[in-house]
Amino acid sequence: MTSGVNRVVVVGAGFVGSSYAYALVNQGITEELVLIDVNQEKAEGEVMDLNHGRYFYESPAKVWSGDYHDCKEADIVCITAGVSQSDEETRLSAVEKNTSIVKSIVDSVMASGFNGIFLISTNPVDIITQATWTFSGLPKERVIGSGTILDTARYLHMLGEYFSVDPKSINGYIIGEHGDSQVAALSNAAIGGKNVMDILNASDRYMLKDLEKMAANVRDIADVVIEKKGSTYYGIGAGLAKITKAILKNENTVLPVSALLDGEYGFQDIFAGVPAIINRQGVQEIIEVDLNKEEKDKLASSIEVLRSAMKPLPK
Ligand code: LAC
Repeated sequence: MTSGVNRVVVVGAGFVGSSYAYALVNQGITEELVLIDVNQEKAEGEVMDLNHGRYFYESPAKVWSGDYHDCKEADIVCITAGVSQSDEETRLSAVEKNTSIVKSIVDSVMASGFNGIFLISTNPVDIITQATWTFSGLPKERVIGSGTILDTARYLHMLGEYFSVDPKSINGYIIGEHGDSQVAALSNAAIGGKNVMDILNASDRYMLKDLEKMAANVRDIADVVIEKKGSTYYGIGAGLAKITKAILKNENTVLPVSALLDGEYGFQDIFAGVPAIINRQGVQEIIEVDLNKEEKDKLASSIEVLRSAMKPLPK
């Protein structure tokens, strides 16, 4: 970490990395921002484009296209690089290719003397985050994946539409795999502190089916976007910026990120999307939200999907 100046390094200047970078500079979240990409021209082009907007940013960051030496002084290294899935594939399909790409990146970052926090969005993000934790040897609290932060944003947006309420006034989470086995913890969703189940009084129980169907749509909505525009990036870029802000501003904000379960929810040694308190140290504490039996069973299945999808790590 540099003396008091926050530095974020983004590895991967593709759609996700550049959307994240834009969110960071437009919201004034960091003082220094470095873009690294195998395609140096691309990184340089993104940096130029970001810097051309300096006049408009509230608190302009110093942005440059760099290399792994710039990671030594970084507070956060965000890895977005990797191959993405088509709308015909699941996020798990890229596990081997992306594990190998990320290993090479993590090795280069650690060789710089980096001693900050890794933030991962490369899919399948829970497995790649776990691999990053293994490759880096950093303490578990300093390796964080975007997890179900975007799924949760989509879910709260859906609930907000359904109940005509600002999503920011709704407390609720998608947990588990950032993928097809994710779990909408509907039983503890609350609007203004009132449980959604209590809002759905007996006569509205049929609405529960609507909500469960919509939660399933949240799970599949990325495929719809991918089919229409090729990939998703604004939502995840903003989600990564939210996590970055919680870290750099030491916010102690509860966010659904991919974190190492070390007994929480009854699971060990697995990264999965769970609500966690995020601050300057990274993951401060995992919050175990109340789940009904069906949700507990679905979470167990989701954890099993992740465990089964893991491949032996490259040495
Ligand atoms: C999505 C990507 C980030 O859900 O997996 O849009």
